[in-house]
Amino acid sequence: MLSKPVACVLAAFVGVLSIAVARWLGDSCPDLNLLPGKHVLITGASSGIGEQLAYKYAGFGARVTLVARRVGKLEAVAARCAELGAAGVHVLQTDMGAPEAASAMPAAAIAESGGHDIDVLILNHAAFAESLTLELESESDMQRHVVTPMRVNYEGTVRAAVAALPSLSKTAGRLVVVSSASAKAPAYFMAGYAASKAALHSFFDAMRAELGVTGRGNVSVTLQVLGMIGTEQVMEEQSLHGIAMPVQECAAAMVCAERSRTHESYIPGYIWGLVRLNVFLPGVTDWAMRTMFVMRVPEYVERIAAAASGIAAA
Ligand SMILES: *[C@@H]1O[C@H](CO)[C@@H](O)[C@H](O)[C@H]1NC(C)=O
Repeated sequence: MLSKPVACVLAAFVGVLSIAVARWLGDSCPDLNLLPGKHVLITGASSGIGEQLAYKYAGFGARVTLVARRVGKLEAVAARCAELGAAGVHVLQTDMGAPEAASAMPAAAIAESGGHDIDVLILNHAAFAESLTLELESESDMQRHVVTPMRVNYEGTVRAAVAALPSLSKTAGRLVVVSSASAKAPAYFMAGYAASKAALHSFFDAMRAELGVTGRGNVSVTLQVLGMIGTEQVMEEQSLHGIAMPVQECAAAMVCAERSRTHESYIPGYIWGLVRLNVFLPGVTDWAMRTMFVMRVPEYVERIAAAASGIAAA
């Protein structure tokens, strides 16, 4: 016979698993035919997930405004969007880590598009840096791993969202904020990045609630919680090839979540289970994160060993 605690844990595990499977099977994608002509504004659009989102929306006939720092790359993405059938393509060079530029971005994008209000704002830009918390030694480490992610990922996103609200309100628009599974469960080597993403959840959950209570509930707020996605950066690591979701598939799922006005979407779907599991069985989530991601990457294993021996030596 199973002891009572073990039986409870097993039952909870099976429960979470079956809900996750049901959600995965039940994934649907509404009204993509309503996209033609809609003005979709995407930050971080020069590569990776933002680039693929631009191609998806362009393919559905939306008007896209692409925002990033690297204007050369943006022009290349823009050319492809035009080929794919976008109703209009505009490019706006902006550093979302510069506070004033982030606040001014929505108005600049509307002007650039010839005065079209924003139907969908996708805040996807991000600063990422990889480090163990134990490796943060100098002031420049602090800046790179803690201060910059907060300024770019959190402050830049909040500033742009707040500045875009009047326009989004006119269109009953959609605000989409790209987050990460690392905001919801311990993620190794990205504490500073994870913290900046977690801050987005607190801010935008509150904003959604306040929009509702102030009669502006016609603007939806979707937080996209992304797991391991096969961007170029991730695909450089051979050992992650089997488990990373192809970036085009991720973009397609993100479009569906935006169309559904989902509060929180989890991509790939199993991330939902992992996050729920972390609430009542954190040890199991930690084990899964370690064995699925961290311990597969030889460089991570070496750096953990080095940090561990550094402590032993100290
Ligand atoms: C959304 O709600 C706001 C506030 O009530 C209103 O001013 C605006 O016209 C609405 N937008 C649409 C497109 O209905």
